[in-house]
Formats: sequence, C-alpha cells, structure tokens
Amino acid sequence: MEKQRSSFTGKLGFVLAAAGSAVGLGNIWRFPYLAAKYGGGIFLLVYIILAVTFGFTLMMAEIAIGRKTGLSPVGAFAKLNKKFAFIGYLGAIIPMLILPYYSVIGGWVMKYLAMFISGNGADTTWSETIVNGDTTQTVTYFDKFVSGTGEPILWFVLCIAITMVVVLFGVEKGIEKVSKVMMPVLIVLSLFIAIYVMFLDGAWEGVVYYIKPDFSKFSIMTVISAMGQLFYSMSLAMGIMITYGSYMKKDVNIEKAVHQIEIFDTGVAFLAGLMIIPAVFVFGGEGDLAAGPSLMFKTLPKVFNTIWGGQVIGALFFILVLLAALTSSISLAETVVSVIQDKFKIDRKITCLIVLAGCLVLGLPSALGYGLLGGVKIIGLQFLDFFDFLSNSILMPIVAIFTCIFIGFILKPKAIHEEVEISAPFKAKKLFNVIIKYIAPVFLVAILVSSILDVFGIFKI
Ligand code: PFF
Repeated sequence: MEKQRSSFTGKLGFVLAAAGSAVGLGNIWRFPYLAAKYGGGIFLLVYIILAVTFGFTLMMAEIAIGRKTGLSPVGAFAKLNKKFAFIGYLGAIIPMLILPYYSVIGGWVMKYLAMFISGNGADTTWSETIVNGDTTQTVTYFDKFVSGTGEPILWFVLCIAITMVVVLFGVEKGIEKVSKVMMPVLIVLSLFIAIYVMFLDGAWEGVVYYIKPDFSKFSIMTVISAMGQLFYSMSLAMGIMITYGSYMKKDVNIEKAVHQIEIFDTGVAFLAGLMIIPAVFVFGGEGDLAAGPSLMFKTLPKVFNTIWGGQVIGALFFILVLLAALTSSISLAETVVSVIQDKFKIDRKITCLIVLAGCLVLGLPSALGYGLLGGVKIIGLQFLDFFDFLSNSILMPIVAIFTCIFIGFILKPKAIHEEVEISAPFKAKKLFNVIIKYIAPVFLVAILVSSILDVFGIFKI
C-alpha cells in the first residue's frame, strides 16, 4: 500500500514554509540593488503591481496544481496530461541546478557570519591595491576568500549538509518546524536592522533616494527586470510551489495564503532595501550601490565597520541572510527529493543521500569557479553565473510560458478554479484567467528574449 503523503499541519505551517522559500538571497541582496538601479520608487511600484497580478496568478496556479494532483512537478503534469509531462521534467531540473550554487553562496554567508560573530568583522574590509605598470588592481578580502580552495568548499558543504538534515526530517517535523522558528526571527531582525539604519545620521537622504520615484530611470527594462526578479523571488516556475502545494490540506484557503506569502516576500524585500540603500548611501555613496553582486560581501562590511555597534549589526544581518538562504535552499532540496521519491518510490533517507551527493558534485565547480577553476568559462560566464543564467534566465521563463499555455488552453483555468473553490470562493478569477492566458505568456517571452540578448551582449539590460 502506498504511504499517505505528508502534509503541513495547517495554514500557518504552509504559509511560513512557502514564504521561507520565497524570502531568500534574492530579496536581501538582489532586490535593493535592482531598486537602486531602476529608479527607486518607480521600481517598487512596478514590482508591487506585478506581484499582485502576475505573481499572484502563477503562484495560485502552481499551488492549485500541486494540491489537486498531490504530486511534485514531474508527477503532477504527467497526471494532468501525459503529453505535457515534459513541463514537469523541465521544471524539476531548475531546482537541481539552483540548489548547488545557492548553497555555495549560502556558504559565503556562513563564513561572513562566523567572522562577525567571532569579532573579526573588520577583517572583511581588508583590501590591497596592486600596481602593475599602467594598471592597478584592487584585491579585496572577498576576492581572496572566494579564490581559495579549502574554505569555500568547507562552507558550501556545511550549508548543504544543514539543508539536507532538515529535509531528512520531512515536511512536518523538519521544514514546518524550522520555518515556524526561522521566519518570525527573520521578520524581527529585518525590522530591527531597518529601523536602526534609518536612525543613523544622514540616512534619511538614502531613504528618499530609495522611495522617491526617479522617472528618468524608467524604461521597459524596469518592467522586465522587475518581472524577472519577481519570478525568482517568489520561487515560481521551478516546481517549488507545486511541491509545497502537494502538501497543503484541502481546507486551506489558497487565495488568502498566496496573498500572505506575497506580503511576506515583498515586505522583506522592501525592508532589505531600507537596510541597505540608506546605509550604503551614507557611508559609501551612490556609486557603491551599483556594485551589484558584491554589495553584500564588499560594501556592507565597510558600512558595518563604520557605524556605531556595527559588529553586532553585522552579525545580526548575516544571521538574517543565512536564515533567508536556508529556508530557500530547504525548499529547493525538498522539491528535488520529492520529485525523485514520487518517481522512483525510494526511501527518503536514501533519496536525501543521493541529492546530497549530486549537489556536492554540481556545486564544486561553482565553489571553485573563482580560484582553481577561474580560467574556465562557459559562454563567457563563471560556473556559478552560468548555472544562475541557465536556470533563471532561460529555463524559468520557458517553464513559465509552457505552464501558462498549458493551464490557459489545454487544461483550462476552470480546473484551477475548482481546486481553489474546494476551500473558499475564488475572488480574483477573471484577473487570473486573463493573465494566465494572454498577458503572462507575452511578458515571459519578452523576459526570455531580453536575457538571451543581454548575455550575448547584443542588448544591455
Ligand atoms: N526565492 C528565493 C530568493 O528570493 O532568494 C530563491 C529561490 C528559492 C529561487 C527557491 C528558486 C527557488 F526554487
């Protein structure tokens, strides 16, 4: 007899776990940087509009598919229509690609946390400028750390190991329990740090820079980058919400739960902006905000080194980032485990070991991509960036396009309405239909095309 599928005990467990997946590195590091780049308030506004329309629609669809079929993406699409099982396979590949490199970055966060907790936070601001003839090159602490071999591997292994231990305990005893502790702590920390930063001398200017719309920076790219960020941030089109939906009880109101997850996700992203933008603005200047990826590891430690109580704030900040990263990597790992378990009916422990081994193998090139394997590039990208590009910029829009077309025209939105209405009336049914059938596919094609043009340098985002 088949074992009964595990489930979240109730709505709170589901919402916190799904919000845990959504709130991640994307919210804390990527969102503020994009907001600064694309015109502050205007980016926020576009993002919120997209979240309550596109984000809402796709998340509703995925959770409903998961709950309806009771399966993770591969099984779910196959159960709905054999011919479209390929969407499930494509969707399942994405978390397999993301989890390893996400854990590499999670490992970096752990290293920085260890530095701040041990009182050595100031060391992370070290840098040296080497003059070589006409050229000068600045090497920072971060560059030195990631170009090493032993340490990046060690922290990466630690991060993935913690993730897998939680997943091993299962949905109720692992993921739900951990999310119920980590998510409230995450919120308190976000609020505390954001308020602390806002009270720093001169921070108000940065707050205004963040919130005030700069229309001159608005372009179609504002919309496209907000949309790309939204999908990544809400963990959409990667099979995650289908998997979590498959653990949701039939009496939980899906629409309400989706609204709550969105508020969580957008709220933390907004607070992250409030923590980072004013702080960087005051202690570095506008130019530092453009640092992009290195914002968190190069610019922020300098800020922590300057502000009063910075060691403690730095440690709290990296705890916050680590919690966000872990709850997201847990959702990625759970999806991979669930897909393998649904497909091959193997024991959870063995599946976890397989996933751990696969992750170690796939993650090593990303962990070593800045040192030992520094010379190796794929389409001009380092391993980590390549995996990120392939999963988020190529596969994610493709899966999302197929999902919309499948639901809109093959399965028909009615199937989703029926699932949603098991627990409560579906209020935004019309909005859902229009977006899933017509608007989302068009926008998703635009995201796909622009990211391809961007990576080949034909058109700069
Ligand atoms: N949503 C997470 C973030 O914003 O960092 C990242 C993420 C988690 C992406 C899980 C994809 C995923 F499946």
